[in-house]
Amino acid sequence: MCGIIGFSGYERATDVLLSGLSALEYRGYDSAGISCFTKDAKITTIKSVGKVSELKALVPGELKSDCGIGHTRWATHGGVSRTNAHPHSCGNVTLIHNGIIENYLALRDTLAAGGRTPVSDTDSEIAAMLIDSLYTGDAAAALAAAVAHLEGAYAFCVLFSDQPGKIYCIRKGSPLVACQTEMGSIIASDMVALLRYSKDYFVLEENLIACLTRDEITLTTLDGTPVTPDYLTVTWDVSSAQKNGFKHYMEKEIHEQPDALSRTIMPRLVRYSENGTFYMLPDFTADGIPDSVFLGLSRIIITACGTAMHAGMMGKLLFEELLRIPVTVDIASEFRYQNPILDENTLVITVSQSGETADTLAALRLARKKGARTLSIVNVKGSSIARESGHVFYTHAGPEIAVASTKAYTAQLAAFYLIVFRAAYAAGQLSIAECAKYTEQLAAIIPSIQQVLEQKDEFTKISRHLTKANDLFFIGRGMDYALSCEGSIKLKEISYIHSEAYAAGELKHGTLSLITSEVPVIALATQHDVLPKMVSNIKEVRARGAFVILVAAADAMIEEELYDFRINLPQISDRFAPFAAAVVLQMIAYNTSYLRGLDVDQPRHLAKSVTVE
Ligand code: G6P
Repeated sequence: MCGIIGFSGYERATDVLLSGLSALEYRGYDSAGISCFTKDAKITTIKSVGKVSELKALVPGELKSDCGIGHTRWATHGGVSRTNAHPHSCGNVTLIHNGIIENYLALRDTLAAGGRTPVSDTDSEIAAMLIDSLYTGDAAAALAAAVAHLEGAYAFCVLFSDQPGKIYCIRKGSPLVACQTEMGSIIASDMVALLRYSKDYFVLEENLIACLTRDEITLTTLDGTPVTPDYLTVTWDVSSAQKNGFKHYMEKEIHEQPDALSRTIMPRLVRYSENGTFYMLPDFTADGIPDSVFLGLSRIIITACGTAMHAGMMGKLLFEELLRIPVTVDIASEFRYQNPILDENTLVITVSQSGETADTLAALRLARKKGARTLSIVNVKGSSIARESGHVFYTHAGPEIAVASTKAYTAQLAAFYLIVFRAAYAAGQLSIAECAKYTEQLAAIIPSIQQVLEQKDEFTKISRHLTKANDLFFIGRGMDYALSCEGSIKLKEISYIHSEAYAAGELKHGTLSLITSEVPVIALATQHDVLPKMVSNIKEVRARGAFVILVAAADAMIEEELYDFRINLPQISDRFAPFAAAVVLQMIAYNTSYLRGLDVDQPRHLAKSVTVE
């Protein structure tokens, strides 16, 4: 949700800013801009509508600068235009902003009374006006005074025209991470923009003011007390955030799933012994998650957004089956305003790839405030959700750049499986032998994903058919329904084909009227216990002329006249089928978008990290 970067150093700032913006482009890509101090200590601003590549074409090679800020935008307040693109300037202040200033209209009126008139429709320009109105030469004091007036979320990087070489930053809600290197100081929304310069970074804590110069980053509290940052280290390298020969990040990330799953699962398997027999069990001692988190629970609530919420739907089925505790799954943007009933015997599990999704973060804060136990399944180390959660389970999927989530989703599934197995073992619902058997089956899904990926040509054939569709249904029961929801969002977000996920048994209660020969149906039949029921539901759509794509267990007996295409899953027990089936649906979505000639990695209107409500 907008990517921001600032650099003060010994290199050409424009190179650092533009390459950083390319790395951050997944956060927003409707317009972009930079502002730099030039050699005569003046600020030059260049902005353009469109992607970072269009901005790059406008930046003259002779623009010499060693300090500047850059922004790639996902429009919230005000349409997509050059005027609304960042940076925004007023008087001495030039800034970039990620977040939403909720009280900007009231502020605008107050500032207008003081003679300041905005030229854009953005809330961010009002922030620039506010800071300028409070600036008398002390940048930190102006920022500290300004934030007292601001409601909402923000990460700001600010240049003051009379302080060349310096960038001042402050944040609330929206993320900022920074690092100091030999070539200078860098700050950005996300570690992926820093990776090529450093693996060590720190998270700027809320309400601290950072001042970047070429030689140091100083941190102070709002009242001026110096603070020392806590550095973190990432294990990712630059190549993990590049395409490495694949056409798109999404394709690369789909193919990375065996490795990503291996990193989620394998380090957590620990050898236990009982009565002279050895067992490999999930163990979270190294994660700092004690068994007591799972004991004495009366209920579990899983809350998240988008794909992460779909992983939570699978988590619910697993928990209820094996731990025998009631679980609800709530969309985080709803949960946070529902005044939920929580206590110390409730475990609230938040799930988030980025660890920065505003609604999920707010849901976590609410859970903590109301005294629930909290556990978060997060990919990005040091992210806000990870830092604020009672306990954190990192998925270690590596950086995910494509807006459509793939490897992060299957890693979240794996996290749920491990957590449920451990919790059920700790609570006495699974014996050590059962827990070890399930854990072994989970580890066995890693090679099965590779087998799915080998059916590449089949996916292309299916997608070729889907490119012509306007509407489509995914149907399934149980785990297959939870997976249908994910398959549907994947296809919608990148192919722009309308689709819906339906519990297969529910279709006849109204929606069946939409099924025609023009509406393909992707039917998931991976669960043997409901196979006869599922076959009946496939017959219902087939009888209405639907073109059926079947994704099924290899041994599922289904008459050939019921489908047009069939994808068989590798031999895995039903409980673990969602991993393989997820990869099938990802590949179908990917190929459909690609064959329709769309922007697979950066679909229209979307952004990967949603740090606004
Ligand atoms: C955005 C992304 C989705 C993602 C959702 C939640 O909408 O486009 O892919 O599932 O946010 O993101 P999170 O980082 O919390 O998992």
